[in-house]
Amino acid sequence: MPTPNQFSLADKVVVITGATGVLGASMSLAVAEAGAKVAILGRNAARAQARAEAIRAIGGEALVVLGDVLDPAQMRAACDKIMTAWGRIDGLVNAAGGNMPGATVGPDQNLFDVGIEDTRRAVDLNLFGTVIPTTVFGRVMAGQGTGSIVNISSLTAQRPLTRVMGYTLAKTAIEGYTRWMANELGQRYGGGIRMNAIAPGVFLTEQNRSLLVAADGSHTDRARKFIDHTPFQRFGEPEELTGTLIYLLSNASRFVNGETVVVDGGFNAFSGV
Ligand SMILES: NC(=O)c1ccc[n+]([C@@H]2O[C@H](COP(=O)([O-])OP(=O)(O)OC[C@H]3O[C@@H](n4cnc5c(N)ncnc54)[C@H](O)[C@@H]3O)[C@@H](O)[C@H]2O)c1
Repeated sequence: MPTPNQFSLADKVVVITGATGVLGASMSLAVAEAGAKVAILGRNAARAQARAEAIRAIGGEALVVLGDVLDPAQMRAACDKIMTAWGRIDGLVNAAGGNMPGATVGPDQNLFDVGIEDTRRAVDLNLFGTVIPTTVFGRVMAGQGTGSIVNISSLTAQRPLTRVMGYTLAKTAIEGYTRWMANELGQRYGGGIRMNAIAPGVFLTEQNRSLLVAADGSHTDRARKFIDHTPFQRFGEPEELTGTLIYLLSNASRFVNGETVVVDGGFNAFSGV
């Protein structure tokens, strides 16, 4: 008899918020390639359809569910649609998020002039945009007694990056939420339901392009600093996150709970010397 593949996501239903984004594109395709049915959750219908078509093109199953992660009613409607189609939810990837320009402090800006409202919006999107979908999709997992939730943190949670104050507050809180929930889930569901996080290094996407690429297409000073502080001397490719994601969603990680896995070409381990 063949050994079962621990990394297989066959027969699992995985919801990916922010699947409409750049990292979401490779995440959703990889999760489908690993065998899961994928619910593409985002606000942009055309992009969501494109993600679903890419999955169908490789013979996978995808469902588009539009909604704003900050709106509990829209998340409940999305959840109902998935349950009607597939009847279960095994994985949730909270990938909607990103930096917001108004929640940053530039080098020439007074440190104490940071925009409080924009900072709140960054915390809302990155933190509550993870907490709210978890309350909705996690409830289904609780009914089943099984499920794996993967949040997306950032390097800035462990090593604060300059400028991005609101994003740093939010992603630091994501790692605290991940550990807190992992404790509660573990104690209440006996290992059936887990929560972990991935902290990606720098991947060139829409939410950070203006900080990393100059108008003429060359790297900004900030981009060069990132590369200099990455032992691999380059940015990541979105496909390089997906192995860790599949591991955390699959039975291969069934004793892993409350961890944040850093995927960054060595940035977090580098002393700078
Ligand atoms: N790109 C990087 O280098 C990097 C590094 C660390 C962490 N991350 C994190 O990875 C995740 C994905 O980022 P990305 O780089 O693919 O960015 P992206 O901007 O390409 O994708 C984010 C997606 O989330 C969607 N979204 C935003 N607000 C939403 C809302 N309220 N409701 C539903 N959908 C919403 C956006 O429309 C977009 O499609 C984010 O949490 C980001 O903070 C990215």
